[in-house]
Order: sequence, then C-alpha cells, then structure tokens
Amino acid sequence: MTNLTGQIAVVTGAARGIGAAVSLGLASLGAHVVLVARDAAKLNEVERQINEAGGKSTIAAVDLRSPDQIEALGRQIREQHNRCDILVNNAGIGLIGKPLHETPLEDWQATFETNLQAPYLMIRALAPMMIEAKAGHIINISSLAGRNPLPNGAAYSASKWGLNGLTYSVAEELRQYGVRVSVIAPGSVNTEFGGGSAAGPEEARRAARKIQPADVARVVEMLVTQAPQSFVSEVLLRPTQKP
Ligand SMILES: NC(=O)c1ccc[n+]([C@@H]2O[C@H](COP(=O)([O-])OP(=O)(O)OC[C@H]3O[C@@H](n4cnc5c(N)ncnc54)[C@H](OP(=O)(O)O)[C@@H]3O)[C@@H](O)[C@H]2O)c1
Repeated sequence: MTNLTGQIAVVTGAARGIGAAVSLGLASLGAHVVLVARDAAKLNEVERQINEAGGKSTIAAVDLRSPDQIEALGRQIREQHNRCDILVNNAGIGLIGKPLHETPLEDWQATFETNLQAPYLMIRALAPMMIEAKAGHIINISSLAGRNPLPNGAAYSASKWGLNGLTYSVAEELRQYGVRVSVIAPGSVNTEFGGGSAAGPEEARRAARKIQPADVARVVEMLVTQAPQSFVSEVLLRPTQKP
C-alpha cells in the first residue's frame, strides 16, 4: 500500500468509534493525524495508542458546532503544517427516536450543525491548502440512512442525504485541482453511536455481526491510496449478515 509519510490527515470525531479506527489506520500508513473531537481525554487516549504503534498525531479539542473554532483549527493547521492532504469528515450525531413532528428544534439544529454544517466549514477551512497543492482527499462519512428512509430519524436521514449531495457537488468543484472527494455510507457499525448496545449475550452476537470500525477504516485506507488518475467516489458498506 502507498506510504502516507509526510502527509497530514485531519479526522473529525476521532475520540472513539469509526473516527478512532480511521485515525489509527491512517497513522499506521505513516500520515501525521490531527485528531479532532470535543473530549480531550478520549483524544489523548487515541493519541497514546497511535504513539504506542509508532505513529504520529496531535490532538485538537474542537466543538464542530462552532464556526469560530473550526476557523481557528484551519488557521492552526496552516501555521503548524501548511498542508492538508486528507480530511475525513466523520463526526456525527443521531438523536433518533421521535417522528419529525415531535422532534425539538434543538435536536434538528444540533444534527444539521454537526452532520452537515461542520463538513462544509471543515472543507472551507482546509480545501484551499489542497487546491494549492493540486492534490488531496476529502472523505465524508455518510450512512445508508442517507439513501433509505429512516422513520423516527428524519433529521438524521435528511442530514446524511444532504451530506451526499454536498459530496457529489464538491467532488465536481475540486476534481479539476486533483482533489478527490468521496463518500462512505455504512450500515450499522459496532460503536457507541446512539447510546450503543445493551449488555447481554444476544446483544453481543448482534454487535459481532455489525460492521466493525476497522472495516470502515480499511475503506478509507483504500480510498486514499488509489492511483492518482482515478478515484472511488462512493462506497456503500453493508454487514454480511443482517445484525
Ligand atoms: N455507528 C453506526 O451504526 C453508523 C452507521 C452509519 C454511519 N455512521 C456515521 O459514522 C460517523 C461516526 O459514527 P460513530 O459510530 O463512530 O459514532 P460515535 O462512536 O458516537 O462517535 C462520534 C464522534 O463524533 C464526535 N463528535 C460528535 N459531536 C461533535 C462535535 N460537536 N464536535 C466535535 N466532535 C463531535 C465525538 O466526539 P466528542 O463527543 O468527544 O466530541 C466522537 O468522536 C457518524 O457521522 C455517523 O453518522 C455511524
């Protein structure tokens, strides 16, 4: 596989779940990974695991719902590294469980600010460095709920349908600069997302049948090591057996 040594990768939602696995995967290929999430203690733990495996990372405790904090992160990456080769917009929240007509406005806003506005602001902050370099990868983590209806999860589903539209449009804007923009849409992944699974033998069996975070990380690694003349624009990742 291509060596990512010397490259800067920024991964949002790197504190746990898919983002942590993606960060470990990119660091294992040699990238210096900027780990972004709110919980600094959890980010420190991921950084420790990367160090232990001989990789490089720095942490950035950022609330992605804050446009100012994202702008400051962009400036910091410009000052410290003056490059950004890979951006993985992975952070996301669910707030699933109510029909839309009972969904509080705060839940709608939190969902859209995290799942759709933050990827826009991260791209706005970091894509200029990719355009200058005439290379780069932006990978947005969507969901199969961004292709299918999700009753009692309309805001989440709509935010992911929106993220798909953003991805396809930005891919067309940036391909002329050698920047490749892709979306990964996984089915159920075994993480704490939406509160995680209850404990018990049947839940453990279901969790084992789900997609594992490392499976998503493998797809990210595949996308960022594609030969420069082509790119995988979309991956639908399904569990082999329905959980
Ligand atoms: N798990 C699934 O079944 C599944 C399926 C399809 C798609 N996905 C998508 O995959 C992505 C990752 O999901 P996951 O399962 O790994 O979820 P997770 O375990 O709940 O992790 C979510 C990550 O996002 C970060 N985050 C949330 N809000 C944030 C904010 N305002 N600012 C900064 N960071 C924030 C969290 O860190 P902090 O709390 O420390 O900020 C955490 O690191 C999401 O976009 C999700 O929609 C998940």
